[in-house]
Amino acid sequence: MWITSSFTRFIVFVPDRPCLRVHQRGVPLTRRALITGITGQDGSYLAEDLLEQGYEVWGLVRGQANPHVARLRKHIGDVQIITGDLLDQGSLISAVEQVQPDEVYNLGAISYVPMSWQQAELTAEVTGMGPLRVLEAIRVVSGISASRTTEPRAQIRFYQASSSEMFGQVRETPQSELTPFHPRSPYGVAKTYGHFITQNYRESYGMFAVSGILFNHESPRRGAEFVTRKVSLGVARIKLGLATELRLGNLDARRDWGFAGDYAKAMRMMLTTDRPEDYVIGTGVTRSVRELVELAFATVGLNWEDHVVLDSKYTRPAEVDLLCADPKKAREQLGWEPEVTFEELVAMMVESDLALLSFSNRPEEEPFSPDHW
Ligand code: NAP
Ligand code: GDD
Repeated sequence: MWITSSFTRFIVFVPDRPCLRVHQRGVPLTRRALITGITGQDGSYLAEDLLEQGYEVWGLVRGQANPHVARLRKHIGDVQIITGDLLDQGSLISAVEQVQPDEVYNLGAISYVPMSWQQAELTAEVTGMGPLRVLEAIRVVSGISASRTTEPRAQIRFYQASSSEMFGQVRETPQSELTPFHPRSPYGVAKTYGHFITQNYRESYGMFAVSGILFNHESPRRGAEFVTRKVSLGVARIKLGLATELRLGNLDARRDWGFAGDYAKAMRMMLTTDRPEDYVIGTGVTRSVRELVELAFATVGLNWEDHVVLDSKYTRPAEVDLLCADPKKAREQLGWEPEVTFEELVAMMVESDLALLSFSNRPEEEPFSPDHW
């Protein structure tokens, strides 16, 4: 065993538990976070935010040679990687045991809604059962008895990435923490299970387990399959003469779109409050896909109607027509406010993709790939 010290923290290394911190009056000197889904859009912003706050950040990564790890390492160097899969209970117990986190953020999921109709069972396993497996890993490693107890205790805090897709066919507008759920896709159904099992572990075991019900949030790191990024990449391609048309589905759907960097901050804030509660996170403003498209084309001086082609291939078996958040609780209790406006977000994404496609020195690679953060 050996001990290092600095003015800010002590680290004790022991052979079987490699990195235990010394606590001062029960408070860890540095908080340690474990993030599932760290290779995704939100994982990257959350890791950046937590590192800025002085956290030690670990990311759970699946697969023996996950290609997204290189991208993560390139952009966010300080993250430590541990292998595991939301489909594999044992790997999650090992990860929690090894990392000994103060906070666990479960962002891992199959997150593309259309894919959830094609692979409904896999979506249920990863997006729905995944949160249960992470909660079980925390329960087992924390030594919380499976017999009922609601005594709050010092323990690992858990964040579940719930979704406004759970509101689905909305019962009221705007949607708040009290709005009933009516999911419209296998993804939405799986998220609803994840939401309720998180609530159940809080109520059954007194765990600090919370869900953030996040509305759509986007960025230049967004996967190319989602509509905002598909549009920003499409606009950039057309502007640069690499394409002439952009094929889209339902232009009438309305979403409450915000910037992913702002939403990552809300996740951290939810785990550093006194009481575990669920929060709706969104801007409170809803726009149609048509408005998104019009603005994105106008950003580069083009008329969307000259380029957008409707294609039924992109319409869904059941659509979520309207989402609009009521973020009052987050504003009042967390002090959270979005900073980036819809106009700034669209301009940021279009400019980023123009730069990406203009300066790509490896055009043989597919520039639509989200590997090009
Ligand atoms: P994303 O970019 O699609 O990232 C999904 C992440 O999940 C990736 O890191 C992926 O890892 C990981 N993953 C997939 N299957 C896994 C498995 N079996 N085991 C472990 N990890 C697995 O999603 P995002 O936009 O960052 O969203 C983060 C979370 O928030 C998701 O749960 C999403 O459903 C939820 N959410 C997102 C929004 C939004 O607007 N972005 C809104 C509400 C809720 P690989 O690199 O291995 O594929
Ligand atoms: N992806 C896509 N592609 N969507 C299109 C297209 C298209 O060509 N044309 C129209 N749309 C419409 C969809 O029908 C949907 O109504 C809307 O654009 C937004 O689609 P996505 O960007 O794919 O996002 P989403 O709302 O289905 O799901 C996202 O937000 C959820 C939160 O509400 C994902 O990030 C989910 O993981 C997240 O939970």
